[in-house]
Amino acid sequence: MCSKQLQAMGLGTHSNTLEIFFSSKAVKNKKMTNLTEVELNDIIRSVINMKPDIKDPFYVLDLGMAKCIMEKWNSKLPQIQPFYAVKCNPEPIFLASLAMMGAGFDCASQAEIEAVMSIGVSPDRIVFASTCKPETHLKYAAAVGVNLATYDSSIEVEKIKKWHPKCALLLRIKVGDDNYARRPLGNKFGALPEEIIPLLQAAHTAQLSVVGVAFHLGSAVTHPEAYRLAIASAKMIFDTAVQLGMPRMHMLDIGGGFTASPQFDDAAATIQAAVESYFGNEPGLKLISEPGRFFAETSFTLVTNIIGKRVRGNVKEYWINDGLYGSMMNMLHDPDRVIGTVKPLALNSYPDNPTCSKLMTYSSTVYGPIANSLDTVLTDYQLPELNVNDWLVFSEMGAYSASAGSKFNGFDTSAIRTYLAYSNKSGESKMNGNKI
Ligand SMILES: Cc1ncc(COP(=O)(O)O)c(C=O)c1O
Repeated sequence: MCSKQLQAMGLGTHSNTLEIFFSSKAVKNKKMTNLTEVELNDIIRSVINMKPDIKDPFYVLDLGMAKCIMEKWNSKLPQIQPFYAVKCNPEPIFLASLAMMGAGFDCASQAEIEAVMSIGVSPDRIVFASTCKPETHLKYAAAVGVNLATYDSSIEVEKIKKWHPKCALLLRIKVGDDNYARRPLGNKFGALPEEIIPLLQAAHTAQLSVVGVAFHLGSAVTHPEAYRLAIASAKMIFDTAVQLGMPRMHMLDIGGGFTASPQFDDAAATIQAAVESYFGNEPGLKLISEPGRFFAETSFTLVTNIIGKRVRGNVKEYWINDGLYGSMMNMLHDPDRVIGTVKPLALNSYPDNPTCSKLMTYSSTVYGPIANSLDTVLTDYQLPELNVNDWLVFSEMGAYSASAGSKFNGFDTSAIRTYLAYSNKSGESKMNGNKI
């Protein structure tokens, strides 16, 4: 029987945390896997037990899950280097773990570049993937040597020429009619077909080097076949540039939009086939991508505390200490997102059965803590009868959660702590709650 080794660590901001972690006896040369539900619950309980009087919400980052997801990427799209989209979840230890697994980074601001470089990532592993950059951020990118950026307007060409003339460019294009993703981006970003030649010419005239094409079909792509259309369009632009007398491009950035679901396999197969048919004979082509949700979503679990209760007829209403102005902000701008599982951990009400196995359930409403009725997290959701100081555990909460939350009413999303966890099936000892 294999014993399990579990560890939960409060994360400091120091950049060597992960190095210490990876080189520790507990982890080094051991195979890490994602946590089982039982292991995850053990970790959560050990975090809660560390300081039973503190009821703040917290995240658990399953490092083994992040590792499995990177392995999935590498097995399906081995020739495409992921440049993780920092905006999705900039948790430093998460960035550091992805960096250690070989990722590059898509940064959209100076602060994101700083965050990535502060963990030791070199500037050549960063793409400044915002099509409209503040001038001061461009100056900063030039100063630290981030020399690759996207653009989709001639004004941006002028700004880049002025503040960062050594920057290589990726022309970001809009693909199709914008109905390929749950959260489309095309109404705001990407050159329209009729703008492509003028934008190529503008950069060429400014003596800026356009090295390739970038696209992003939108977050949570629902029609993977759109990748084929986008890759075909990119090929046409590569050829157009040559016809305009520009040097041949050599970089294709296929953006993000992936989810860590079976749909990823379809998307990867479509991309592989399209790259082969349109770029099969393109020597020296460098392929990159900008996945965010793919890596972050399933790697993080959010644990919230019940801080209030009201019973109205048959409906039980609960208040928790995080909500739509915090980690669930993603529900506001992604209303079709199906929330992952929400499970009770009733350490207060049912200490002998905290997972509430086989208990009767009731129609329940769950509110966030903010004095605004929009802050309603769940309605008509089946939960057992819970009480103040029980916990609710939300799975798949890593994407556009902590990064998008606010400080509204003084509930500071950025102050929510993350605990690092992993499962090591070959370990022998069990260590819970070691803080570093
Ligand atoms: C330019 C760019 N790259 C990458 C991403 C990440 O997208 P996703 O999380 O869907 O992979 C986004 C998301 O908005 C984006 O705007």
